[in-house]
Amino acid sequence: MMENGAAALARRETVIEVSLGPRSYPVIIGEPLLALAGQQIATIVPGARVAVVSDENVAALHLAPLKASLVEHGLYLGEAVVAPGEASKSFPVLATLCDRLLELGVERGDCVLAFGGGVVGDLAGFAASILRRGVRVVQMPTTLLAQVDAAIGGKTGIDTRRGKNLIGAFHQPSLVLADVSVLATLSPREFRAGYAEVVKYGLIGDAPFFAWLEENRDAIFSASGAARRQAVETSARAKAAIVAEDEREESGRRALLNLGHTFGHALEAYAGYSSRLLHGEAIAIGMRLAFTYSVERGLCPASDAARVARHLDAAGLPTEIAAIPGPRPTPDALLRLMAQDKKVKGGRLALVLAHGIGQAFVEHEVAVPLLTEFLARECG
Ligand SMILES: NC(=O)c1ccc[n+]([C@@H]2O[C@H](COP(=O)([O-])OP(=O)(O)OC[C@H]3O[C@@H](n4cnc5c(N)ncnc54)[C@H](O)[C@@H]3O)[C@@H](O)[C@H]2O)c1
Repeated sequence: MMENGAAALARRETVIEVSLGPRSYPVIIGEPLLALAGQQIATIVPGARVAVVSDENVAALHLAPLKASLVEHGLYLGEAVVAPGEASKSFPVLATLCDRLLELGVERGDCVLAFGGGVVGDLAGFAASILRRGVRVVQMPTTLLAQVDAAIGGKTGIDTRRGKNLIGAFHQPSLVLADVSVLATLSPREFRAGYAEVVKYGLIGDAPFFAWLEENRDAIFSASGAARRQAVETSARAKAAIVAEDEREESGRRALLNLGHTFGHALEAYAGYSSRLLHGEAIAIGMRLAFTYSVERGLCPASDAARVARHLDAAGLPTEIAAIPGPRPTPDALLRLMAQDKKVKGGRLALVLAHGIGQAFVEHEVAVPLLTEFLARECG
């Protein structure tokens, strides 16, 4: 007898609920999942036909089984494929994408399926939020970074020359489907970059998880075995809980997810959002800077900051500004870029700092002279 969909789900997949009242949705984690997408979308996003947005790399590697599943369930409208990379999070690409989605015939009841890393998720999610004044979006993240972070929580957007993610919208997905097996085709560098966001959950509020990562890093980096999936699940659960508590980053809880990001976004902008520095690499340097700065301010034990740097180093992630290829930024240039950050309120800079591993907090009024001195030393 054929197994029904619900039984298959119960057997193979982990389901994490993002509890947001009428905007609640499941994050389904499993391997493999692509061939089940049609069935799950038909169940969880009833009535929607599907336009897939992907990038050239992901489409070439993984689109075929997904498309077959959508076609099998009569859901497939077509696909829009963008160039890979951060440069696609731009107004020109957004305009072309919206036009393509209209050409495919996406109507109000249909959905956009974002099939790719955080770039595709942010871009396609934002397009869905404005297309016909908002259509539903399903996130199918294919990078480690997107599975543990970007695909969950509804932040969507694009970059401008004034900074990252400055144009965007909150647009919660109707469903997140994370197939851990597709991570096997990710380049080692992209996997490492995503790992920085996994580490972040330990550093923010889960010291035992950080200790588990210290023990299990090799197993997580090897594609076989249960550790990789466990790392994805623990991270996704942490993200879901924070989003449920503070959907729009109002109470401060969600702001903790920005540990390392104010430094990191400034470094990314300085490096021109290029392959000189991937997002996750920038976050690794940023998290190390946040811990070192916390130590210098007398807020955090030096031994915790050393443990953080050691673990990121061991994972092959950069922890120093000097590790970024090309010319070094000046402290003033970095400060200017940090001031563009969305964490600035009334001209005052906020930073996520730490009292120790697993004890992050938001400092709302950062003393700029101290920070400038610190950056001068770090920029060398
Ligand atoms: N919305 C949010 O809450 C949030 C959170 C964190 C990061 N982000 C955003 O995410 C973006 C970074 O995302 P990313 O690191 O996933 O980068 P990405 O989307 O650029 O993907 C990285 C590279 O991996 C390739 N790729 C993707 N999946 C693959 C697979 N399974 N096999 C082989 N190659 C694959 C892509 O084509 C690309 O070249 C940034 O723009 C960042 O701002 C958003």
